[in-house]
Amino acid sequence: MRMRKKRHLEPRMERCEKVLLVRGRPCLNLKEAAENYRALFDYSAVFGNENPVELEIGCGNGGFIAELAKRNPATNYLAVEVCSNVILTAMENCLKEGIPNVRFLNVPAEILPCYLPERSVEKIYLNFSTPLPETSREKQRLTSPRFLPIYGALLKEGGCIVQKTDSEEFFDYSLAKFRECGFEVKEVTRDLHRSEYAEENIVTEYEKSFSQKGMPIYRCVAVKSAHWKPTK
Ligand SMILES: C[S@@+](CC[C@H](N)C(=O)[O-])C[C@H]1O[C@@H](n2cnc3c(N)ncnc32)[C@H](O)[C@@H]1O
Repeated sequence: MRMRKKRHLEPRMERCEKVLLVRGRPCLNLKEAAENYRALFDYSAVFGNENPVELEIGCGNGGFIAELAKRNPATNYLAVEVCSNVILTAMENCLKEGIPNVRFLNVPAEILPCYLPERSVEKIYLNFSTPLPETSREKQRLTSPRFLPIYGALLKEGGCIVQKTDSEEFFDYSLAKFRECGFEVKEVTRDLHRSEYAEENIVTEYEKSFSQKGMPIYRCVAVKSAHWKPTK
């Protein structure tokens, strides 16, 4: 079901300008944009400090990134979400709570290389990315070989991707693609909420609804090692 456009979306987006760094144009040719257009961020100008930077892709309503940022005030967070209707809630909550260390990008993950310098990010969170099981949509999966070289280039050496999902099929696919694309996979659990990682886990909106239905949560960490090389 399609989500109804939020009331007064445009003026409300404008009121979030303090935390909204960029807003993508939907008709942009993504490949061309990533290759030809560069507006790389100067993080110290954006955040006013030199703290490390972490990134969430597909932040949805932003509950996870808000809680993570509150727990870690000495880390800066970037939250990416393609859907304006959804990111608006995340931004409004962040402003309401006065969280100083989160900024938002309303763009598709495909064009992140336009804005984020290479080797500038410590961690990337992929929380409950849409599994898209249809073969024809593989390229849109956020752990497909189309995206992993982008993440690898953005991550610092030793940096990592932390993935959580409710879909076993998507999880197995992701584990295989992480390894194929040169990441080292560790901390694999097929039942996060009953694992040693449960205590520090921040439950996202989707995670709450899946676990309330009794579904196990899958989680892993994919590390960019010293031997990581870009793959085509
Ligand atoms: C299933 S929701 C999960 C939301 C949230 N992470 C959670 O766990 O509650 C996936 C989100 O990823 C966003 N998304 C999907 N593809 C994206 C892309 N290429 N770039 C940025 N965001 C994307 C969707 O708009 C959606 O809000």
